[in-house]
This record gives sequence, structure tokens and C-alpha cells, in this order.
Amino acid sequence: MDKMLIDSLGDITITNDGATILDEMDIQHPIGKLLVEISKTQDDEVGDGTTTAVILAGALLEEAEKLLDKNIHPTVVVSGFKKALDVATEHLKKIAVPVKRDDVATLKKVASTAMHGKISETVKDYFAELAVKAMLQVAEERNGEWVADLDNVQIVKKHGGALEDTQLVYGIVIDKEVVHAAMPKRVVNAKIALLDAPLEVEKPEIDAEIRINDPPNQIRAFLDEEENILKSYVDKFKALGVNAVFTTKGIDDMAQYYLAKAGILAVRRVKRSDIEKLVRATGGRLVTNIEDMTEADLGFAGLVEERRVGDEKMVFVEQCKNPKAVSILIRGGFERLVDEAERNLTDALSVVSDVIEEPYVLPGGGAPEMEVAKVVRQFAAKVSGREQYAVEAFANAVEVIPKTLAENAGLDAVDVLTELRHIHESKEDGWKYGINAFTGKVADMWSLDVIEPLTVKLQALKAAVEAATMVLRIDEIIAASKIESEKKEEEKKEGEESKSGGSSSSFE
Ligand SMILES: Nc1ncnc2c1ncn2[C@@H]1O[C@H](COP(=O)(O)OP(=O)(O)O)[C@@H](O)[C@H]1O
Ligand SMILES: [Mg+2]
Repeated sequence: MDKMLIDSLGDITITNDGATILDEMDIQHPIGKLLVEISKTQDDEVGDGTTTAVILAGALLEEAEKLLDKNIHPTVVVSGFKKALDVATEHLKKIAVPVKRDDVATLKKVASTAMHGKISETVKDYFAELAVKAMLQVAEERNGEWVADLDNVQIVKKHGGALEDTQLVYGIVIDKEVVHAAMPKRVVNAKIALLDAPLEVEKPEIDAEIRINDPPNQIRAFLDEEENILKSYVDKFKALGVNAVFTTKGIDDMAQYYLAKAGILAVRRVKRSDIEKLVRATGGRLVTNIEDMTEADLGFAGLVEERRVGDEKMVFVEQCKNPKAVSILIRGGFERLVDEAERNLTDALSVVSDVIEEPYVLPGGGAPEMEVAKVVRQFAAKVSGREQYAVEAFANAVEVIPKTLAENAGLDAVDVLTELRHIHESKEDGWKYGINAFTGKVADMWSLDVIEPLTVKLQALKAAVEAATMVLRIDEIIAASKIESEKKEEEKKEGEESKSGGSSSSFE
């Protein structure tokens, strides 16, 4: 189910995304804050499995508490967890199934799994398809390694319409209008100048002075000079065959006039992140000095067109030759829906990227956690001393994932877990079995198409153990006199003072 978060101003967020919930929750407890950190790390590293990481960390700590009550020292618990993690990692790598990086069907299943329960079933398939198409389009091989960078998928949100109207654009969508009414609104076979330079005469930079008693022709000459610079820019564009201009800076009235007269479409104040994507999509180069611009700097797009989206206008740059940057324009009934759709789509894009970069997958639904519990228990028998308890505790802790999935479906977890343990131990393909989230019953997750990237599971386990370790190493919480940020601020000030020869106050 979704959660509704309400802040002190009454603003609401509706989400099912673990990282977002934790991020927005008002958490007071210091250990709680540490757990929020893990969810952030998990999100940054692999983009999914945040709830898993936090739930695992919580379960590890719960198990650890029982051991501490039995007077087992925290360092013993920590080293047992660490050994168990190594065994778990090795086993998951062993059972992971290799996939072809362009295996669209599997990638789609992975994307759908990441969006399970977060978005309506009909839209889920469609979004999964968009995520796979987008990621495969931007993926590339660099020095023998595959890279699928989420930064190259631009997400543009505009509420209105329905989620089904969400579209993939093989190019970039700029949330700006064409700057002047007399300019063309549609340019085919666009030769594009991408500028990080203003098309205006920047007054303060002109080192000139006009006195009132200068002869009038001199003033005229000055104004002409201004006009000439702009005109020379436009002439340059014309000579290079440019018919579309995008700049991060401004375009003043006079420049607009000349551009329009030359039949050039122009867009001003484009976001830097957007123009960087344009560079990649159109194969052009960002130009800072218009005088030095050459034909090689120009980008290309089959079509540049201003279109109406909802009640606003946007410029679409499409049909790029081999776009290494694409856009997804998310539509949806209202703003919060669009925001949540973006989070879901980002999860889907992340897991697809994970698999393209590291092409191994596992069945989901708690199946890998059951495998981990099994092998870690077997390993525990070989561990001597009290550490054995810690290794066993790890095995018990990871079962929290299938347990939670069963409970969420309203089933009694004890029975289901017993059945699941038995299958994992006795059946040859037992490793595929987990919990069907709809029924809460034991099922072959592989045939249910519930599939996850190996990296998400590995990272979640690792993050959880790291967090639990960090907490276990703490034996006392001491109120610090100053909060960290204040301290840094002060140190900075002191540093500056001593640099500037001020008196040092380090003894105070
Ligand atoms: N259809 C399904 N049946 C059973 N389990 C599923 C299904 N879809 C996803 N899961 C499982 O749900 C868990 C992920 O839940 P989610 O709420 O996305 O948390 P996280 O933030 O950890 O990704 C994973 O263990 C995944 O395998
Ligand atoms: Mg998820």
C-alpha cells in the first residue's frame, strides 16, 4: 500500500518508495538517522532495494540484540555477520543467471518487478517497455565495459493527460518556447548551434563611454557597432547553414529580429543539464565563442519542433542520428501522480541499467534470501565458538524478507516459511521459490517473471551489514556539545581568521 506523508505545512507526498518515505519522515532517533543513510546509499548505488536494505539492517540488529543479551560481545557478532555476508555473496553470485545485455524480454521483467505494487498493472507493462527502450538506446561500451547512465535519460514531467500518454522521445525535450513569434516553429533536417554564449550585447562588458556632447554621428556609430556584432553572429549562422539555435544565455530583441529574418528557430535560457543532453543527442559541441564556431560544432536532428503539451509549449528535438541521450515525457492526471510515476520509472530505469552493466539476475520474492539463509546455516555448522551464534543469527535475519512478503499478503508467515525452507533444501530448482506477493503463497518466482538484478541484492546485503556493524560498534551515545555543522562552520571561521593574521582562539 501507499503511504501519505504530511509535512508541517500540510503539504503531502503519496508514495510507496522506501527511500522517499525515509527521506521525508521526521526521524529523531540517531540510529534511525543512520538507517536513512543506508537507504540513500542503496538508492545512489543501484537505485532499488532500499526498503530491503533497511528491513535487513533492522532484522540484523534485532537478532544481534538477542546475542548481546546472552553476553556475546559485539565484536564477535560483527565478525560473524561479516563471514556470513561473504558466504552469502559468493552463493548469490553462483546461482545468479547470466543474461544477454540486449535480452529485451528479461530486461522488461526486471523493470516490471521493480515497479510491482507501485503503479497500475496496465501502465506497468508500458512503463517497463519505455524504460528498457530508453536504457538500451543510451547504453554504450566504453573500454570494454558497458555503461548505461541514467543521466542520459531526461525525464520531463507535465501534468495533464493520462499516464498512458507518457512517451519516449528519441532526442530531447526542452521545456521552453521558441523565443520569437516570427521564427519557424518546425525545422526539418536541423543544423543546430548549441551555445553557451549570449546573443545580446552585454552592456557592462563594452568598454566605451559616450558623452552627450559627442557629435551625433559618433553615437550612431556606437549603436551601429552593437548591431553589427549581432548581425555578424547571425551571418555566421547563415554561412554555416544553421537553422536552429539553442543557448543557455539570453537572446535580446535585436538578435531575435535578425534570427527571425534569417528563418532560424531559436530557444534561449536552456538549462545547462538540458543543453548537455542536446550535445550528446545531436552530436554537436557546446560553443562558448561564436566567432570560433565551425561546421564541426553543429549538431543534427531530423526534426526540431515546438509543440503544445498541456497548456504549455515545449521544443522537441527528435530524429537524432544515434541519440545517446533520450527523453521520457511523463503525463498524468495531476502533479502528485506524475511525481510518483517519475519515482517508479526511475526505479525501473535503474534496475535495467544495473542489468546492462552487470548482466546477472536472480528470482525475487524472497527466493535469494531463502537461499542465503540455507547456505549460511550450513556454513554456521563449520564455525567454532560463539561466532557460530552470530552466523546463525544472520541466517534468521535474512528470512525477514520472505516473511514480510507473506505477511503483507495477509498470510501466517510461520507456515509459509517452513514450507519455503523445505523446498529450498530438497528441490533441485528450489532456489527459484519465493513468495507470490498477490497470494502470499509459495511459488516459482522465475515462472512468475519476478526477476531482480544480482547487484541490487548484493548491495542491499552489504549495506545492511555495514549499517548493523556501525551500530554494533557503538557502546555509548554521548550528547555532543555542538552539532557537527556548527562545528565545521566554526572551524572554517577560525581557519580564515588565522590565515588573515587574526588571533587564534584554539585555547579558548
Ligand atoms: N510480484 C511479486 N511477487 C513477489 N515478490 C515481489 C513481486 N514483485 C516484487 N517483489 C519483491 O518485492 C521486494 C521489493 O519490494 P520494494 O517495495 O520494491 O522494496 P525495495 O525498496 O527493497 O525495492 C523484492 O524482494 C522483490 O523481489
Ligand atoms: Mg523496489
